[in-house]
Amino acid sequence: MHKRILIQNATLVNERKSFKGSLVIEDEHIEEIITGDASPGMTADETVDATGCYLLPGLIDEHVHFRYPGMTHKADIGSESRAAAAGGVTTYFDMPNTLPPTTTPEAYDDKLAMARRESLVNYGFYFGATAENAATLASLSSHHVCGIKLFMGASTGGLLVDGMRALEAVFEHARLPIVAHCEDSRLIAANAAAARERYGDDPAVEHHAEIRSAEACYRSTALAVDLARRYGRRLHVAHISTARELDLFAPGDPLVTAEACLAHLLYCEDDYKRFGTRIKCNPAVKTKADRDALRAALTDGRLLTVATDHAPHLFSEKQGGCLRAASGMPLIQFFLPAMLDLVDAGTLSVERLVELACHNPARLFGVENRGFLREGYKADLVLVRPHSLWTLTPNRIESRCGWSPLEGHTFHWRVEQTYCNGFLIYNNGHLTDLNFRGEAVTFAH
Ligand code: DOR
Ligand code: ZN
Repeated sequence: MHKRILIQNATLVNERKSFKGSLVIEDEHIEEIITGDASPGMTADETVDATGCYLLPGLIDEHVHFRYPGMTHKADIGSESRAAAAGGVTTYFDMPNTLPPTTTPEAYDDKLAMARRESLVNYGFYFGATAENAATLASLSSHHVCGIKLFMGASTGGLLVDGMRALEAVFEHARLPIVAHCEDSRLIAANAAAARERYGDDPAVEHHAEIRSAEACYRSTALAVDLARRYGRRLHVAHISTARELDLFAPGDPLVTAEACLAHLLYCEDDYKRFGTRIKCNPAVKTKADRDALRAALTDGRLLTVATDHAPHLFSEKQGGCLRAASGMPLIQFFLPAMLDLVDAGTLSVERLVELACHNPARLFGVENRGFLREGYKADLVLVRPHSLWTLTPNRIESRCGWSPLEGHTFHWRVEQTYCNGFLIYNNGHLTDLNFRGEAVTFAH
């Protein structure tokens, strides 16, 4: 017996178009997409009246830190995948800066096995580059590994490749997309020493962008772009945070592309007064002019994707200044409503948002059968309602760390339903079945 769900009278957003229509899910797949108010070619077991709502492909968050293994006091695959489901994110790609780091086939297999046991939504994992594992990078399965994460600047965890010869080896051997964290470590160390002289042992968080400076980002990003061109490798630079770095990217470039993360689109240095270390992350949020340039680049093609850099820490770990407070913040659950706020503000269109958060991650990584509303694709879907005001209170937070920089914010869009592989995992404020499990995403690079 096949199960069919009809989602009726929504505004469907897909491949640069929005149109009134309906969609039929059959088992795990999108069976039929209907334009206008025609009836489906088959009967449904359930009908959802989606009048007034927008139906989007489930989001693919290509940049998260779910902390398993080794830092599960902050978060784990179960807790953070529940946050994803509640936010309309149906697929995530998790970063390798765990304990131990995901830099060996054994560590990678262990994460995959844990996701199979715990993940409420679909998953992929990056393999981390080190100064020693270039040969392993050449032999990774292009069908199962989403990409290679390269830390060209140190952040949470000890992963760092910054010697020129080691970097060349990574670019020479990589066959999968390289996603790079670009900040020049030497310049950061020099800036930190100068800041300590000037402000004392642990400078206040307002000085974070003096230490993790715009120049440190530019130097490292320029080097990564240069290496990618020299070796002809696919490079995606993570969390671009400055206007100047954007000049290194051209719309439509097939080799070198850029990601923006939510914190750099929402916040700027002036916000430290209000949020303190809650918004401390690496790279640092920069000036208002940088934030506005990033917002503009969402639509001009220089940014290919948006992601969360969901990086939960306990609130107790966020105490102190630039050198003591942990960097990173949880964002995945409120990613979609926050981006839809930017749609309401006129920063980007809802069609462009779907391109940046669903289609383009799918294209970039070669995700099979997801990221689009297409007949035959997996039914990863999110139903959102506009003009439906709600204020974020801590009791809504699914992430284990239990706090959000967006607490107290009033959103104008509400996630009503999330479907993962055709299964309704989130329905109007509730996760429906904590025993449901997502799948390992596969890639055709
Ligand atoms: O702010 C950050 N937090 N930036 C990173 O690069 C790592 C992340 C984390 O894992 O905490
Ligand atoms: Zn990150």
